[in-house]
Amino acid sequence: MRILVTGGAGFIGSHVVEAYLAEGHDVHVIDNLATGRRANVPEGAVLHEVDIHSAETERIFAEFRPEVVNHHAAQASVKVSAGDIVHDLEVNGGGTARIADLCVRHGARKLIYSGSGGTVYGNPDALPIAETHPLRPVSNYGMSKLVGEMYIALKGRMDGLDFTILRYSNAFGPRQDPHGEAGVVAIFTGRLLAGEPCTIDGDGEQLKDYIYVGDIARANVLALTKGGGRTLNIGVGEGTSVNTIFRTLKDAVGIEAEPRFGPLAREALGWRAEVSFEDGIRRTVDSFRR
Ligand SMILES: NC(=O)c1ccc[n+]([C@@H]2O[C@H](COP(=O)([O-])OP(=O)(O)OC[C@H]3O[C@@H](n4cnc5c(N)ncnc54)[C@H](O)[C@@H]3O)[C@@H](O)[C@H]2O)c1
Repeated sequence: MRILVTGGAGFIGSHVVEAYLAEGHDVHVIDNLATGRRANVPEGAVLHEVDIHSAETERIFAEFRPEVVNHHAAQASVKVSAGDIVHDLEVNGGGTARIADLCVRHGARKLIYSGSGGTVYGNPDALPIAETHPLRPVSNYGMSKLVGEMYIALKGRMDGLDFTILRYSNAFGPRQDPHGEAGVVAIFTGRLLAGEPCTIDGDGEQLKDYIYVGDIARANVLALTKGGGRTLNIGVGEGTSVNTIFRTLKDAVGIEAEPRFGPLAREALGWRAEVSFEDGIRRTVDSFRR
C-alpha cells in the first residue's frame, strides 16, 4: 500500500513509519523537522522535508498518490500552544483541514489521525474515559487537536472520506525527546541516567493513562483496514501515578534515588523554607538548653 505519513520524523510518527515498513508498505514522510529529526526516519522511508502548508505538499500528493494518509504532523506541545494560540491553531486545525482536503482532492482512500485523548476531554468526570465523554478541552492545544478531528469528520460527511481518529493517552517510549516538551517518562529517564535529581510537582499521586509507543504504532497498522469512520481511545485504560513512574524507572535504571517534590507553596504563597536542616537543629537544641 502507498502510505503518506506526516510528522514521520517525530517521536510517535517515526514508530508508525517503522511499523508500516515492517508490513511491507511503500512509505513517504512529510516533515518540516520543526521538532522531528532526520535520524528518526527509519531506513526505507522517503523523507520530504516540507511543511504541510506548502505547495510542495500538494505536489507530493499528486505524484505519490497515497492510498492512505496518516497524519501525525502537529505542534505537539501544550506549553507552546499556551504562548501562541494562532500558530497552534494554524498547524493543528488549519494544517489538518488542509491534509483532509488534499486526501479528498487526490483520491486517498483513508485518513488516519493522531488525536489527543489526554486533552480533548478536559478534566474527566470519571476514569477510564469513554469516547462518549463530553469534549471540553482546557488548553489551546486540546482545542486545536479537536478542531482537526472535526474537519476530518466534516470531510467524511461532505465528501465520503474514510477515516479513523485514534485518541492517544500519554505516549512514552524510545525517541521521545527528554529535552523538549516531553512527557514525564522521558524527562525522568534522562535525568536518572545522568545521575540528576527528578522533581515531582504536587504530591505525585495524580493518575494518568500512559501508553507505550509500540502499542500506538500497532493501532495505526490495524487502522489501515479496520475502524472506518470511528473515533477510538488508545490507552491502557488505567491510571499510573508519577510516584509509581519514578519508582519503576529508578528500579529499571538500577539506582537508589529519592524524588524532589516541587515548590507548590512557592507558587501559591510566595513561601520557601529559609532555615537549613542543620540550622534548625542548632536553634532547637539551643532553645531546649535554655
Ligand atoms: N506525545 C503524546 O503523548 C501524544 C498524545 C496524543 C496525541 N499526540 C499527537 O501525536 C502526534 C505526534 O506527536 P509527538 O509526540 O510524536 O510529537 P513530535 O513533535 O515528536 O512530532 C510531530 C512532528 O510533526 C512535525 N511537524 C510539526 N509541524 C509541521 C508542519 N507544519 N509541517 C510538517 N511537519 C511538521 C515535527 O517536525 C515532528 O516531527 C501529534 O499530532 C500529537 O498531537 C501525541
